[in-house]
Amino acid sequence: MLKKFERYPLTFGPTPIEKLDRLGKHLGDKVEIYAKREDCNSGLAFGGNKLRKLEYIIPDAIASNADTLVSIGGVQSNHTRMVAAVAAKIGMKCLLVQESWVPHEDAVYDRVGNILLSRIMGAELRLVDEGFDIGIRRSWEKALYEVKARGGRPYAIPAGASVHEKGGLGYVGFAEEVRAQEKQLGFAFDYIVVCTVTGSTHAGMLVGFAEDGRQCNVIGVDASATPTKTKAQVLNIAQHTAKLVDLETEIVEDDVVLFEEYAYPCYGIPSEETKEAIRLCARLEGIITDPVYEGKSMQGMIDLIQKGFFPEGSRVLYAHLGGAPAVNGYSYTFRSG
Ligand SMILES: Cc1ncc(COP(=O)(O)O)c(C=O)c1O
Repeated sequence: MLKKFERYPLTFGPTPIEKLDRLGKHLGDKVEIYAKREDCNSGLAFGGNKLRKLEYIIPDAIASNADTLVSIGGVQSNHTRMVAAVAAKIGMKCLLVQESWVPHEDAVYDRVGNILLSRIMGAELRLVDEGFDIGIRRSWEKALYEVKARGGRPYAIPAGASVHEKGGLGYVGFAEEVRAQEKQLGFAFDYIVVCTVTGSTHAGMLVGFAEDGRQCNVIGVDASATPTKTKAQVLNIAQHTAKLVDLETEIVEDDVVLFEEYAYPCYGIPSEETKEAIRLCARLEGIITDPVYEGKSMQGMIDLIQKGFFPEGSRVLYAHLGGAPAVNGYSYTFRSG
């Protein structure tokens, strides 16, 4: 589906799929749980889902003759860390707007984890005191203007690399990769669980899995706590991406399955249940999920399994999208483990 698009390789190649036997057993062996390890997809600053997206965006940045990648996220944004890594790798400068998206009080929140890594990789940072919103922000437009005003050539990458023209392509590739791995495994997954915030990961998967009629088997777990906006953004990106790849099926509103009940109390703050899910997965499988994103989708998957949402015997593929560096910003939250 992606042959006509130029790709700048930033990842190791297909990500491994592993069976989470101990978690599955703990949950009563009703379903088989697998994880696709997007968190281990690259040697660039601990990797994660943004690299698949950026692989299809960077050729455009290079062709545009830009010299500075400009992007935006929260203080502990994984996305901005990935943009900083890619800028270093391709020899561009990087300006990052880091907004106060999370009402979290931890003395070192703006010193550790993702933001620390971005600083080490040489990105220039603007800390801006604005709350959470997945839309286009004034602070980001200002940063683009600032680069131009000082004679630079900015290349704009929106939050999560999502509402970029090519932001959905990377996760179309994920679906194609899963299909190839299913051939080797000798079975197909019944459900794919994905954490959804700015939307292009979920949207790309919808388009990719629509190729064999499985778009409704993509189960989104909202972590934005603004699900109406997130759902609309997933649909927009999916419909746009479907056109780009000449998908013959139309993506419609009902294809966007988004569970809204795990994002509480708000974006970036883990509930007690999210913390329990993070501990459970870590203690049974040695896999780290974070309090902002993957902990919430892990919680959602566990709860849906316990409630019997997935028919018995289903094979459920949890897309682990990365994000572990953010745990450093939650050292007080996990001070007792
Ligand atoms: C670790 C992690 N998981 C999930 C997501 C959600 O992906 P998306 O923004 O494409 O919906 C993000 C980024 O926002 C992320 O960094």
